[in-house]
Amino acid sequence: MTSSMLQSSFMQESTRMARAHGPVFTREFFHLRFTFVTGADLVAELADDRRFGKHMKPVLESFRPMFGDGLLTADDHEPAWRTAHDLLVPAFSQTAMRGYHALMLDVCRQLLDSWGATAGAVDVKDAMGKVTLEVIGRAGFGYSFDSFERSTPHPFATALEDAISHGQRLITRPPMAGGYLGRRAAQRHETDLAYLRAVVDEVIARRTGHEHGGDLLGLMLDSDVLDPVNIRNQVLTFLAAGHETTSAAMSFALYYLAAEPGIAERARAEVIALAGTAEPEFDQVAKFRYLRRVVDESLRLWPVAPGYSRTAKQDTVLGGRYPMRAGEPYFVLVPALHREASWGPDAERFDPDRFLPERVRARPPHSYKPFGSGLRACIGRQFALHQIVLVMARVLQRYDLTLPPDYRLRVSEGIAFGPIGLTLYPVVR
Ligand code: HEM
Repeated sequence: MTSSMLQSSFMQESTRMARAHGPVFTREFFHLRFTFVTGADLVAELADDRRFGKHMKPVLESFRPMFGDGLLTADDHEPAWRTAHDLLVPAFSQTAMRGYHALMLDVCRQLLDSWGATAGAVDVKDAMGKVTLEVIGRAGFGYSFDSFERSTPHPFATALEDAISHGQRLITRPPMAGGYLGRRAAQRHETDLAYLRAVVDEVIARRTGHEHGGDLLGLMLDSDVLDPVNIRNQVLTFLAAGHETTSAAMSFALYYLAAEPGIAERARAEVIALAGTAEPEFDQVAKFRYLRRVVDESLRLWPVAPGYSRTAKQDTVLGGRYPMRAGEPYFVLVPALHREASWGPDAERFDPDRFLPERVRARPPHSYKPFGSGLRACIGRQFALHQIVLVMARVLQRYDLTLPPDYRLRVSEGIAFGPIGLTLYPVVR
């Protein structure tokens, strides 16, 4: 994977710069222009859907050719967004979540079986990628990628990652770049896209003619409000949005649990006190409060999605100081927001107790935004959190986690942040 954006640490540098240059500052990345917003009061204002909406620039527009008018890349004013949003929200209701719990446990079992008693060094990205692809495939579409029957990631996961990095390369590379290598890359991208669409068509075809059910695909096939091309866009969107973000979030949480044995022990003690070593029941997962704080804190330091863009519907002044022209993108730089003054002088320190209810109440309400904002916030938030907490609980019940002694956390950038080269040694307890 060679992408200028993926190989850079532009977002991490910008996060460091925010201390001196925030809460609003502009930086350029090749020919992309980012106007960053990093202050909680301004982010609160941007969350107001009456005055502001979502913008595709500078990042998401590169994914439009791939995901079309799927939920993530549809403009606010496109009717397809509202129609699909309203149709699909029930697939993330509490009742629907309860229905996914058994298959999430099943995937956890596959993970633990694959690690067995003597896992040796485990590639965390591959392992978590398998978990999340299986969970979204089975929960959303009744489709298994048989990830745990393979020694390497499913080609769908690889093609998806390559296609996403190609999209980013296109928007970040200097305008004159191209030539033979550019043509080769474009051809490979077309091959990747054709393959991804073929898999999506197979996922849909397997269901056609059968009972549909209340999952994402069932809701779409049962209703006649979405056209077939839009359904295909939604399937690809959900497989992508539900997979890499969640697996990166799990990887960061595992890193912190391995790096902080005292925190891991406290989280494990809570899980064992409530569920013993048995598979947790659905209602128990919400009671793993400390473990949930570990996940929240991990998403604070590494919110996985570097940020999201908002735009004013009419010319306005943000925070009474920053004139904003209608239609111009402002990018909420989430890792900087998550380190701004209200988090205290030790904001770089990993401390799950920042998410104790009284400490949350003491901070400005919009100082924590890993899942975006307003109407266009993440539809899969509860789905992701339930899954992450459950997987962490199952791993802690069974294993002690050790990092290689020389491992230092370095973070890659792309559509999602991710820990570079993270391996762990899970040892059965
Ligand atoms: C830790 C995991 C996740 C994180 C951090 C995350 C983050 C986000 C963020 C920041 C947005 C807003 C993007 C924007 O405003 O431009 C978003 C939107 C979205 N996410 Fe997630 N996400 C996660 C997991 C998931 C999962 C599991 C699914 C699906 C099952 C999902 C599906 C979506 C979709 C479809 C949208 C677009 C929603 C809309 O505009 O209507 N995400 N996510």
